Amino acid sequence: MNVNELLGSELCGSLRTNGYAIIDGLFGSNFTKGLRKEIKFLHQTEILKPNTTRLFTHDKKMISVPKKNIFEIDITRHNSDLAPNYVKVLSEDSTISDTFNKRMRNVEILKTAIKVQYNEGKGGSFSMHSDSDVKQDDRVISGVLYLNPDWKRGDGGELKLYPYPQDPVVIEPVMDRLVLFSSPHMVHRVLPAYQERYCLTFWFYGFNDDYVEIKKPTEPNLRFLLQPRNKKHLVKLHYGQEWMRSIIESHHDSETRAELVSALNSDLGKLRGYFHDYSDWIPKTKLLRSEDQPWI
Ligand SMILES: [Fe+2]
Repeated sequence: MNVNELLGSELCGSLRTNGYAIIDGLFGSNFTKGLRKEIKFLHQTEILKPNTTRLFTHDKKMISVPKKNIFEIDITRHNSDLAPNYVKVLSEDSTISDTFNKRMRNVEILKTAIKVQYNEGKGGSFSMHSDSDVKQDDRVISGVLYLNPDWKRGDGGELKLYPYPQDPVVIEPVMDRLVLFSSPHMVHRVLPAYQERYCLTFWFYGFNDDYVEIKKPTEPNLRFLLQPRNKKHLVKLHYGQEWMRSIIESHHDSETRAELVSALNSDLGKLRGYFHDYSDWIPKTKLLRSEDQPWI
């Protein structure tokens, strides 16, 4: 199967109607093995740095909360010589973004960025979040390429997506699997990993309209709730306890972690007020067809 078939209209259709798409075997075994080796080298030579969660407090102060067991680096044109073989090839290739631009009428990708990441296991995880906020950056689609040839059930480190109002989906981080999803709207987390885990993230930047036309259902309250920008808030309301646990699992016990928990509690209070008048409508969103709820 060639790249054009793998990146075909089915993939773009899934991104639009489910908010995510999964492609296996796009890059091939030789390339992905080389890529893993190159990222491993970056870790062994301490080029990868510990990850932190950033948060703006209510008084606009930025705090950084160190993450457990996760190391990474952004690869840009200024530092791509650090990973001059496989990572650089990916950072200079536009096949995926060209496909989006050709096949998705609401998307215009203008720039791609790459981050490589090593999770040393030992419970390393990411709490629930979405990758971007349309008010702050232009990321439209996120992609994660997994590089774990020996992954087996029990190793952890699965990606969990929350394509509300559909049920959550758990995706195994196996070799040469690429998962694409909406950067601003798809809430996701990484479950604790118990074996080392490698991946490479793509961010596709571009035109990012915050409003998506929804034709069905015709009922205005349901159409409002199904706007992609509202879905992540509904996930927070629906899965508030899981969101809280994911913050606690992913960070060391610290004052700054307590600030993350308190920010979540404050958000939940605001969201309960904001969606109060829709409480009869929210359960009805679950009954709708996913084709009628475009994400992008
Ligand atoms: Fe993410």
